[in-house]
Amino acid sequence: MFDPLFSLEGKRTLITGGAGSLGTLIAHSFAERGAIVTVQDLDHDRLDIVKSSIGESNQNVFMIAADLSSARECKLVVEKANQLMDGIDIVINTAGINRRKLISEVTPEDFDAIVSVNMRALYFISQAAHPIMKAAGGGTIVNMSSLSARYSFNTISVYAATKAAVTSITRSTAREWAKDKIRVNCIEPSVIKTDFTKTLWGEPHRSKWFDETTPIGRLSSPDEIIGTVIFLATEASSYITGQSVVIDGGILSGGDWDSYA
Ligand SMILES: NC(=O)c1ccc[n+]([C@@H]2O[C@H](COP(=O)([O-])OP(=O)(O)OC[C@H]3O[C@@H](n4cnc5c(N)ncnc54)[C@H](O)[C@@H]3O)[C@@H](O)[C@H]2O)c1
Repeated sequence: MFDPLFSLEGKRTLITGGAGSLGTLIAHSFAERGAIVTVQDLDHDRLDIVKSSIGESNQNVFMIAADLSSARECKLVVEKANQLMDGIDIVINTAGINRRKLISEVTPEDFDAIVSVNMRALYFISQAAHPIMKAAGGGTIVNMSSLSARYSFNTISVYAATKAAVTSITRSTAREWAKDKIRVNCIEPSVIKTDFTKTLWGEPHRSKWFDETTPIGRLSSPDEIIGTVIFLATEASSYITGQSVVIDGGILSGGDWDSYA
């Protein structure tokens, strides 16, 4: 059944980091639902794989290879996506990196690298998309934050700080751009079973720990994130802006004081 509330038909969508685990899935899901999609990524080879897996003949899917750690590249990517799709209705900011190290081991170069992609690229992609979306009468932005914005683990201090910044930038941009009919929201997933997190769930003791401390009893799979992304990108969420949706299997819901009994 066609549901106009969740319709992506003809929606011109830019997905940064779109050749990654979540980005690829989002690109597929949006293209299948009739969106016009521009997939941006640093990784040329993975972009080719996304292109061929969606279908080389699909006239509504475009690829842009670029390094978003440069703010200038962010602007160029948005301009190119605007040209390719003749406008931009939706931006999904998915590009992200992590370098897991204890605080005592983090170098200034590590710090800048993580900040430049997770925080600065998202900020300047959004800034460049704003006038285009405003001129088109509005749009939606969905940012990939993380549960680590509010619940940290050892070795992810810089990553967690950038994700807290993503949640904050989501609120600030939502406030400033609501008058332009641009809604901005983010999702805060806990660990999803992707290549990005394989070193965590691939270790049996860590996998056991996640399963036992997550009320739903397991980690999520990438396809359990898509529904929320579609909800936030479409009319289904027309009165929601500046919010973070936590997707954590219940971790933040609290604890069980009989668990050591
Ligand atoms: N996987 C998880 O458990 C999880 C949980 C919470 C949040 N997230 C967030 O979701 C997003 C996607 O995660 P994923 O699991 O798909 O990771 P991923 O590593 O598979 O995808 C990230 C993509 O970003 C791209 N990228 C990295 N640096 C770039 C740069 N300088 N310029 C352009 N592109 C660049 C990579 O090439 C990659 O394709 C990230 O922002 C991540 O922080 C992931």
